Amino acid sequence: MHSPERLQRESWLLPTTTTTTTHSSSSSNDIALQLPELKRLLQVLKERRGRDSKGGSFGNRPGRVSLVGTGPGDPELLTVKAIRAVEAADLVLYDRLVSNEVLGLVRADARLLYVGKTAGYHSRTQEEIHELLLSFAEAGANVVRLKGGDPLVFGRGGEEMDFLQQQGIQVKIIPGITSASGIAAELGIPLTHRGVANSVRFLTGHSRNGGTDPLHVAENAADPDSTLVIYMGLATLPSLTAKLMHHGLPPDTPAAAVERGTTAQQRIVFAELASFVDEVKLAELVSPTLIIIGKVVALSPYWPHTSIDDSHARKMEEACL
Ligand SMILES: C[S@@+](CC[C@H](N)C(=O)[O-])C[C@H]1O[C@@H](n2cnc3c(N)ncnc32)[C@H](O)[C@@H]1O
Repeated sequence: MHSPERLQRESWLLPTTTTTTTHSSSSSNDIALQLPELKRLLQVLKERRGRDSKGGSFGNRPGRVSLVGTGPGDPELLTVKAIRAVEAADLVLYDRLVSNEVLGLVRADARLLYVGKTAGYHSRTQEEIHELLLSFAEAGANVVRLKGGDPLVFGRGGEEMDFLQQQGIQVKIIPGITSASGIAAELGIPLTHRGVANSVRFLTGHSRNGGTDPLHVAENAADPDSTLVIYMGLATLPSLTAKLMHHGLPPDTPAAAVERGTTAQQRIVFAELASFVDEVKLAELVSPTLIIIGKVVALSPYWPHTSIDDSHARKMEEACL
């Protein structure tokens, strides 16, 4: 749901202002309705640019785009660079995972545009986002593209960077704390730990074609000495856990699923792999949820289970020496 402040800011895009509008409402997502306003804004920017160029100083300065990571949700996890970039923006395009607190940093005279995606529903296609970024940068605007977590971790930041650079637009990347790091820290889970996990692997559970079985990697990901972090993994969790166990990951491997991690709405499910899917279903977790699988999960001070076998416990003790 929009905060009243966000609604007000976005009302420039909406044909009618209503206090109950959400991102998924048809009016806020109908591109046809928004395009005339966007075109008007572009026109204003171009005219302003024309005037400035007559005045000499920086009128023909090309615009620039910053791809800015905002971290997993807690606004205190923003970097100083990200705060400075947001405060300097003329136009901010933002995703679903960007929190209201972060949007609150946008200048009152800057424009906010929601371009988020949820599974199966995209307010704008990736190509439209590319074109918007390009048009506004070409019109001389200082454009900030806000993305949850880190822009270059399952954020399609690389595609946007590629496209814009090919068009001659200067692109700056400002990293963010990816949800794996932010959530692991919140839960006290070391993603690697001497003697317990010697590597960590970030996977996506999302299927490009909307299928339920994109996890061809499960075969070689079933490594008990590695930590797996799965982004967008709720829909394919049953298939993933079954495959991991089939390929040798012990059924008592500790696992955690965290919905809206690092925010006040955070919900956590801890379980061993064998019962993990049932527990996650029972809790009715929804997106965004991050999944962490591996022995390191049991190092969390919140891990409620005690069924780690003696050899595992001994290994962990040794690792702490
Ligand atoms: C499109 S990916 C974006 C990842 C993002 N670029 C990052 O670095 O964290 C979206 C997925 O990230 C994970 N995610 C991001 N923020 C999260 C949060 N606060 N709590 C739980 N999961 C989160 C979820 O798995 C979600 O489905």
